[in-house]
Amino acid sequence: MICTQDWTKHELDLVLDLAGRMKRDRFSYSSLLENKTFFMFFYNPSVRTRQSFEVAATELGGHAQFLEPKAMRLKTEKTAGETVEDAAQVMSRYAHGLGIRILEDKVGAYGEGEKLLREYAKWSSIPIISMAHDKYHPCQGLADVMGWSEWLHRGPQYPPDWKKLKGKKLLVTWGHGALARSWCSVQEAMLIGSRYGMDVTVANPEGFDLDPEVLKWTEQNCNKSEAQFETTNHVTNGYKGAHVVYSRHWMSPDAYHDGEFLKQKEVEKALKYPEWICDSKKMALSNNGIYTHPMPIDRGHEVSDEVASGPRSCIYDVAENRLHVQKAIMALTMAGY
Ligand code: CP
Repeated sequence: MICTQDWTKHELDLVLDLAGRMKRDRFSYSSLLENKTFFMFFYNPSVRTRQSFEVAATELGGHAQFLEPKAMRLKTEKTAGETVEDAAQVMSRYAHGLGIRILEDKVGAYGEGEKLLREYAKWSSIPIISMAHDKYHPCQGLADVMGWSEWLHRGPQYPPDWKKLKGKKLLVTWGHGALARSWCSVQEAMLIGSRYGMDVTVANPEGFDLDPEVLKWTEQNCNKSEAQFETTNHVTNGYKGAHVVYSRHWMSPDAYHDGEFLKQKEVEKALKYPEWICDSKKMALSNNGIYTHPMPIDRGHEVSDEVASGPRSCIYDVAENRLHVQKAIMALTMAGY
């Protein structure tokens, strides 16, 4: 599971369907991962992903093991060490699944993280699951559509109905901020939202365009389901008629240069656009839109407190859904469920 775009719509439906059942009947799947271990390579920090995978493995009767790659003498672009070919094959003899997080300052160029995950997938005989890398964040994307389809149906206490997403408008809008974030979460949201028939609008200031290939795939997904796709550099136009508003800071395409992540330059550049914040005034232009964000939130930059903590914010339900979709992914890939 490196990107939801690699999976068929039917397979994604299976994940969401099982995640919905696991959410409602949380402790009835407690032996699916009996005697099974999920290794987690975290190159970067995490709150939700680490905790939700650990809880997910526990609730399925298995074990999730946290591993810091810097403690493992692995070969990198800059240092000698054990190759992916060797590490992947050895890990496959111990564990039943392997998750990897690698993004932001832990890569020297956009796409290096993706390359590493695909290299592990090539050499492993166990499932490889992205826990967020520089291009995609599939577990987040699945939790997003699960949350949106709950909110746009009868509410998070009821089963999701992802058919309700068809024809709804998703606005993915850049927010200013000091975190210089990777493109993974927003790109995954665009891809999976468009797979579920949503109209997608991407808004950002000039100079902050996302990966052209992902924009093209999103457009193709929209065309397939007769949905609309548009991009804009206007700060408010995209809000008009939006059912789901997703504001998030992301780095510019110039963030990497000569193998270096230029974080300070990115921060200085981004803070020049204070008008790019999701606030109540802009949300009033939407179609009674819900507010979504993968978290952690840079409050006061990406979104106002009033919106993030407001009655139409689905952030905590989406965060909770990480647990349920990851249990479903592990059950389907590691336990042969
Ligand atoms: N959304 C998300 O992946 O959160 P963490 O970075 O805390 O894991």
